[in-house]
Amino acid sequence: MDKITAEIKGIATFLPEYILTNKELETIVDTSDEWIVTRTGVKERRILKGEGLGTSDMATEAVKKLLKKTNTSADEIDLVICATTTPDMQFPATATIVSDKVGIKNAFSFDINAACSGFIYSLATAATYVESGKYKKVIVIGADKMSSIVDYTDRTTCILFGDAAGAVLLGPSKDGTGIIDSILKSDGVGRRYLHQKAGGSVKPASHETVDAREHYVYQEGQMVFKFAVKKMADVAVEIMERNNLESDDVDWLVPHQANLRIIDATARRMGIRKEQVMINIEKYGNTTNATIPLCLSDWESQLKKGDNIVLAAFGGGFTWGSIYIKWAYDYK
Ligand code: UT7
Repeated sequence: MDKITAEIKGIATFLPEYILTNKELETIVDTSDEWIVTRTGVKERRILKGEGLGTSDMATEAVKKLLKKTNTSADEIDLVICATTTPDMQFPATATIVSDKVGIKNAFSFDINAACSGFIYSLATAATYVESGKYKKVIVIGADKMSSIVDYTDRTTCILFGDAAGAVLLGPSKDGTGIIDSILKSDGVGRRYLHQKAGGSVKPASHETVDAREHYVYQEGQMVFKFAVKKMADVAVEIMERNNLESDDVDWLVPHQANLRIIDATARRMGIRKEQVMINIEKYGNTTNATIPLCLSDWESQLKKGDNIVLAAFGGGFTWGSIYIKWAYDYK
């Protein structure tokens, strides 16, 4: 029997309307457009406004678009995995909420929390379900309302993040396209440098934790930067070597969008030209789990069947990883 691979059959995204520019941030914290652009590459980011709206609302819009675009009915979906660091609630899983809002009734649904590497972790996990032959239509979501955990008095983090959602439909293939290989890694020592101090079981929410602003992203930027530059490049090079890919064989690098300098360093180590690197950090900032599907969606019309694509991410945990995909379809 031919080996089953899991291929991406379609992508859709949701971007909130509100655009938070560097100029507006200059009025909120002591920063400048020049500092933000040269140190990070971000020019603007989207923010989800509106009382009572959360990550699931953005993800729901992306999934509805995905179903329409791929001519798939909600009843056909077998599994929904949502990669998120900003779930609607501590529990239940945001994936179950999205499934309910979309009308997906025949699937099981769960979340994966691997911070900025969550989409890659989820895609690799989803692929194994499809490869087993038991699951035919699997949705992988990457969605975050980062503005819900960003401290807009902290200039070192608030300039980085944005809100968005993206979703892909995975299904089986026997023609050699799809997810060919993945490498996932983690090292819990990194938790020291990037975390949210309160709101979990160690330090539940209290007046004190709120007063101490402990429900926001805490990041020691330079330390995270140092690890990210090394680990994201290492893992991307490792997946190339393992699959005998030379620089010229890679059509696209799809990197997590945390900092333009990290992306450039990864591309340099891989020997990839700038024109082959998907970069949209200037428009959306770091949308955590949504960065990779946002890139794939922005470049979808340029992708061709058989293109060799390398995804790479690094995030809190620390977590990092890379996926090698042979793209499955020409854009119509
Ligand atoms: O996605 C998950 C993983 N996360 C990442 O990969 C993020 C990795 N880290 C980074 O991208 C960078 O470390 C940052 C963009 C967060 C910070 O850039 P940096 O080049 O590492 O800056 P820094 O923290 O070393 O700060 C340099 C200076 C400091 O001033 P002094 O001490 O030199 O006087 C900061 O206070 O820049 C100052 N600074 C700012 N100035 C203007 C920090 N933030 C700002 C700001 N505007 N927003």
